[in-house]
Amino acid sequence: MKKQWWHDKVAYQIYPKSFMDANGDGIGDIQGILSKLDYLKDLGIDILWLSPIYQSPFVDQGYDISDYYKIGEEFGTMEEFDRLLEETKKRDMYLVMDLVVNHCSDRHEWFQKALKDPYGPYGDYFYFRKGKDGKAPSNYRSYFGGSTWEPVPGTDLYYLHFFAKEQPDLNWENPKLRREIYKMINWWLDKGLAGFRIDAIINIKKDINFPSYEPDGEDGLVHCTKMVENVEGVDEFLEEMKRETFQKHHSFTVGEVFNMKKGALEEFIGEQGHFSTIFDFSAHELGHGKHGWYDSKPVEFKEWRKTLFASQLEAQGIGFKANIIENHDEARGASRYLPDYARNEKGKKLLATTTLLLRGIPFLYQGQEIGMTNWECPDISLYDDLNTKDQYQEALKAGLTKEEALQVCHDNSRDNARTPMQWSSRENAGFTSGRPWLCVNPNYREINVEEQEGREDSVLAYYKKLISLRKSEEFRETFTYGNFVPAYEDTESVFAYYRVSENGKKVLVAANYGKEPVTLEIQGEPEKILLSNAQRESTLAKEIRNKGTITLESCEGAVLSLR
Ligand code: GLC
Ligand code: CA
Repeated sequence: MKKQWWHDKVAYQIYPKSFMDANGDGIGDIQGILSKLDYLKDLGIDILWLSPIYQSPFVDQGYDISDYYKIGEEFGTMEEFDRLLEETKKRDMYLVMDLVVNHCSDRHEWFQKALKDPYGPYGDYFYFRKGKDGKAPSNYRSYFGGSTWEPVPGTDLYYLHFFAKEQPDLNWENPKLRREIYKMINWWLDKGLAGFRIDAIINIKKDINFPSYEPDGEDGLVHCTKMVENVEGVDEFLEEMKRETFQKHHSFTVGEVFNMKKGALEEFIGEQGHFSTIFDFSAHELGHGKHGWYDSKPVEFKEWRKTLFASQLEAQGIGFKANIIENHDEARGASRYLPDYARNEKGKKLLATTTLLLRGIPFLYQGQEIGMTNWECPDISLYDDLNTKDQYQEALKAGLTKEEALQVCHDNSRDNARTPMQWSSRENAGFTSGRPWLCVNPNYREINVEEQEGREDSVLAYYKKLISLRKSEEFRETFTYGNFVPAYEDTESVFAYYRVSENGKKVLVAANYGKEPVTLEIQGEPEKILLSNAQRESTLAKEIRNKGTITLESCEGAVLSLR
C-alpha cells in the first residue's frame, strides 16, 4: 500500500458553535478555537476538522451555506481564519473544513436568482420540476421529514430538497455548477487547507426522471435514499471532483457516505479511490429504527463486536476507514455503546482502548476525550435541532406519550453532542461568559477538562496515553499498517484483536465488557503490558509471567505486546 501523509494521524472534530466562545455572545468562534490549539496539540491531535463556519442562516446549523467564500460573522473574520491556518501549521497540525455541496442555503445568491427566473441560467443550478396532477413531482420523503419537493409560489413548479426546505439540492448534472464548486474548493486549498470532510456526498447523483416508488410509510412517501440506491453514476462526479481539486493538492478527504452500493468500497477508499477515507458508520446503523428514532434500539454488545470486526476486515487490504464513536449528528458514544454498569470512567477508557487502536484513522469528537455524555433535556422546547423536533413529532404520531417521545430524544438527539464543550466547573462550563446558544449539560460540574487535567487517572489523561502509544516510535507502524486480526471471539463478553505488522510486531488489545471477570490464555510470547485502563499494569504483568493468562475484571481492558 502506498503510504500517505494522513495514514498515521489522529483527527479531532470541532463543532465550532459549541467549542469555545471568546467574545461572550454565547456562540463559539475562531478566537475560541485559537485559544485551545495547545490543548489539542497536547492531547496528540494532528488533523482538525471544523464543522461549517461559512456564512449561513443556520437553519441546519451551518450545513446550509449562503456564501462559500465567507466566514460566518458569528465565528469571526477571514483574517482570523487565516491566523488559525497559520497557527495550526506552526504546531504541525492540519486544518480540514466541511464541504457541503449536495445543497446550499435558500439564501444563497444562486438560489435567489433561480427563484426569480427558474427557466434562466441559475434555475439550472437546482432541480425545478412541474408537479403531477396537482401534486409533487414524486413521492420522496426528505431526511428531515415531509416531501422533498417544495412548491414555488405563483408557479406550477417545485424545487428539490433532500434535507430541509431551506437547503435546495444543487444540480450536479450542470457542468457550470460543477465548475463553480471546483473553483471554490481550489480557492480554499490554495489558501493552505489540508482537505475536507465531505458532507452527504452520495446524494449528489439524482435520477433526473425522479420516478416514484412504492411508499414505505403511512404518509404515502418513500425515503429519498431509495432513489440514491437505485441510480448509477455518482462515481463520475466524484472522480471529476477529485481530479479537478483534491488530487492536485494532495489533500486529505473524508467522505460522509451512507447507502454505498455493495462491493463499492474499493472505488471509494482504494488506492485510486474517490476519497482518502470514509467514516465507518456500521456501528451507528445498528441502533437505527425502521421508521425513525422512536423505534431505534439499544446497541447489543455481541452485535456491535461482530459489526466492527466485519467492517475492519472488509477495509483491510483495500484502504482506511475513519473510526468514530460519535459526531455532531449522533448520541454520545459513552451513552450508547456502554452497558449501564460501564457508564463510568473505567468504561469510557475501555471504549477508548477498543476503538482508538482499530485499523483506520481515529476521529475524536469534541468532549469525547473527557467522556461527555448525552443530555437529558428537560423540555422539548429547549432543543434546537430541526431533526429532533421532527422526530419528536413522529414519535407522538406513532402513539408514544410526551414523556416517551422526550426519552426518544434523550437517546437519539443530535443535540446530545452539540451542547457546549465542558471546560471547567465554572458557570456555563467555562464555555462562555454570556448565555450559551444551547443549554450546557448540567453534569459539567463533574465532567470537565479542568478537573481532569489535574488528575492522573482521568479519562483525559488516559486518552493522551492511548494516542501517544498509537503514535509512539515503537508501535506507530503496527497501529497504522498492522493487520487487524480478531481474537477470543468465542469469549462472549470480550472485544479483542491483534494488530500485526510486517516488521514482526504484534499487539493484543483486549477489553472485557462483561459484568464478570474473564481469564484469557495468552497465545504466543508475551512481552510487556503497554496499557491498562485500570492502572493494573504490574498485577497483570505478574499474572502473565506466572500463569500465562490474563484476568480482566469487569470493564477492564489491556494492551499487550507479544514477541
Ligand atoms: C450531514 C451533516 C448533518 C447535516 C446534513 C445536511 O449529514 O453531518 O449535520 O444536517 O448532512 O447537510
Ligand atoms: Ca462568540
